[in-house]
Amino acid sequence: MILAVESSCDETAVAVLDPSAVNLSDSLKSNIISSQVEAHAPYGGVVPELAARKHITNLPVVVNESLKQAGVSFEDLTAVAVTRGPGLKVCLLVGITWARTLAFGLGVPLIAVNHLEGHLLAHELEPEGSEAVFPRLILLVSGGHTMLILSPSRGVYQTVAETQDDAAGEAFDKSAMLLGLGYPGGPALSKLAAEGDTSRFSFPIGMPNNDQKFSFSGMKTAVWREIENQDLSSEQIVKDLAAGVELAIVDALELKTRAALKKYSPKSLILAGGVAANGRLRQRFKCLGDEFDSRFYVARPAFCTDNAAMIAVAANYHYQKHKSEMECWKINAEQAGPGLELDFSPLNRWPLAAEA
Ligand code: KG4
Ligand code: ZN
Repeated sequence: MILAVESSCDETAVAVLDPSAVNLSDSLKSNIISSQVEAHAPYGGVVPELAARKHITNLPVVVNESLKQAGVSFEDLTAVAVTRGPGLKVCLLVGITWARTLAFGLGVPLIAVNHLEGHLLAHELEPEGSEAVFPRLILLVSGGHTMLILSPSRGVYQTVAETQDDAAGEAFDKSAMLLGLGYPGGPALSKLAAEGDTSRFSFPIGMPNNDQKFSFSGMKTAVWREIENQDLSSEQIVKDLAAGVELAIVDALELKTRAALKKYSPKSLILAGGVAANGRLRQRFKCLGDEFDSRFYVARPAFCTDNAAMIAVAANYHYQKHKSEMECWKINAEQAGPGLELDFSPLNRWPLAAEA
């Protein structure tokens, strides 16, 4: 059993995965998330130090709950996995220290996981998801990242487009804030957008002629300018503004993905990251996959937003790959096996591996 810990931002999450399961979709034994949204909402965003303190108090509870749900005990664990980055350093530090201590106490390997790789593999938890054929084209859209990644084979990632300023999730959240929808506003904005008229307000697509760059920083200025002339006490106006914002973000994501689909003709098209929970985006990408004869995959919304199940899936991949070296490996500098990491310091930036 692999126990995975995720604490890179404001979710304290722990999952247990059985690596011996025949299908990945049957391997998840538990998946517990403790959200800190309420603690950060009054500040309009995540306060790193507050998040770290919450992780300290939440982690023991969430770990116990996750073991209980899985019906296993500490002694059943064969490896511990933890998000090493990218994320907020003080938050990562709490999860890493916890996981490392647990691995040391149990004498089992510790696996450092890249949070982005977790998002990229989350769809594998769905039936048939792990069968997604390579090359895969993945749009990773979250609160901190907007990237188009080509994965020619397992564990190999090439960034083909990236945002030069704000992330798509940030564009949702900042626009939602301007519309008075609080934090985090992405889900609230998309809910209102479903009842809005997309033709009433239009917002610009950043850098429409550049296939390698996304840009969302113009969005908040455009929304800010528009609302100066609007009466936000009208529910319909807010809904129509939300619909306009959502449409512009989805259009921008589709435009660049379309160019990459033309260029790389991937066999699979995958949507990943918190923004992949967005209904309009999921619908649009399904059509895009059909149009380009690329099979479309996306995880259920709960596996798109931050969670530890996706960290467990990425850890499982590294575990299977390095299992033979790991058997003799304990969390001890003297006993480190070849090619295994001993540096578990938190990384606020961690580029994805270009080679497996
Ligand atoms: O992946 P994630 O949970 O955390 C990061 O790694 O950043 O992504 C969070 C982002 C937030 O910006 C949130 O507003 C956005 O995902 N998000 C959504 C929806 N659900 C979450 N954006 C639009 N529509 C949604 N339904
Ligand atoms: Zn994330």
